[in-house]
Amino acid sequence: MDRSAGLTAIGAYAPARVVTNDDLAEILDTNDEWIRTRTGIRRRHLAADDEFASHMAFAAVEDLVRRYGDAAIRDVDLVIVATNTPDALFPATASLVQDRFGLRAGAFDLLAACPGWVYALSVAQAYVESGQATKVLAVGSDALSKVLDWTDRRTAVLFGDGAGAAVVEAVPAPYGLKGTVLGSDGAGGGLLHVGETAPSLPTGEAMSGKLEMNGREVYKFAVRVMNDTTLQALAKAGLEPADVDLFVPHQANQRIIDAGRERLGLPPEKVVSVVDEYGNASTASIPMALVDALDAGRIADGDRLLLVSFGGGLSWATTVLTWGPMRPALAGARGAA
Ligand code: UT7
Repeated sequence: MDRSAGLTAIGAYAPARVVTNDDLAEILDTNDEWIRTRTGIRRRHLAADDEFASHMAFAAVEDLVRRYGDAAIRDVDLVIVATNTPDALFPATASLVQDRFGLRAGAFDLLAACPGWVYALSVAQAYVESGQATKVLAVGSDALSKVLDWTDRRTAVLFGDGAGAAVVEAVPAPYGLKGTVLGSDGAGGGLLHVGETAPSLPTGEAMSGKLEMNGREVYKFAVRVMNDTTLQALAKAGLEPADVDLFVPHQANQRIIDAGRERLGLPPEKVVSVVDEYGNASTASIPMALVDALDAGRIADGDRLLLVSFGGGLSWATTVLTWGPMRPALAGARGAA
């Protein structure tokens, strides 16, 4: 493949409404100590009642444009929105984004649970590398708070809402995405799901319409993904764990993040963790973590980032991203690297 595809602009959005563990303890039989020690989560940002995945997607793209200017999204010819909570079954949330920004582009949503945004990057990569598209806007936006069972302390405390957006286009070697590993184990579909009906799930699986999860089993699966697919993706990219400058895992639980870091033998300063602030924001989790790291000056041009995500399906996605070259940040904007 002579062309490489990489990220040249990025933005993110977290809703204004902040809900602390103590706030949750007022409506659920839980407490700050349990949530912090079991998950590392202190707060989460939740969408307003009238705020949906499309609104957060718009806000993430607006943030990207604020950082890098209109030129960053000009001539985008494909919009992908990874979401598990689209405003409607259709139109696709991606079509709403296409219209909002006046893009002459194809548009579709991608549903792959929490790893959806990393899946979207792999699709964008394939389109750009094959020449089928020149500039892809890859968005992850989720309002899982709308599908949580707010009476279930086992799940309600874990998730938050948010969005992230990136432009994927051709970049010169050695920049760009490499070593991508996608996987699925549909036999585990009953362990984490949202829906009213699912004839395909094992009989007896009662569906409430709200998110339901077998936390312990998903935990074990997540640690397996951290252990195996990170090494697979690195090997595919011809790299060793020591070559990783920054590890950016899905932000579900600090204990899962720590397990992945230890397996790779990386020091804590090479890991991005924002789970304390945002909880698990599903498809938005990794782009929000990237923007946080960028704003903190933790990502430099040419850095090798290892992204890994896992979730319902069961599904997972891992990739190695050599950062840059980013479009020049606008004067006064955050995000120059
Ligand atoms: O995007 C992918 C998504 N999901 C994940 O990655 C989640 C993976 N799973 C996990 O992160 C963990 O399994 C949890 C954080 C969900 C749970 O942690 P755990 O250490 O596996 O706890 P547990 O499920 O074994 O529950 C331990 C106890 C139980 O009480 P008993 O049965 O021992 O008396 C629970 O009822 O903690 C209780 N518990 C709570 N207590 C206070 C469960 N949730 C809560 C809560 N507050 N919010």
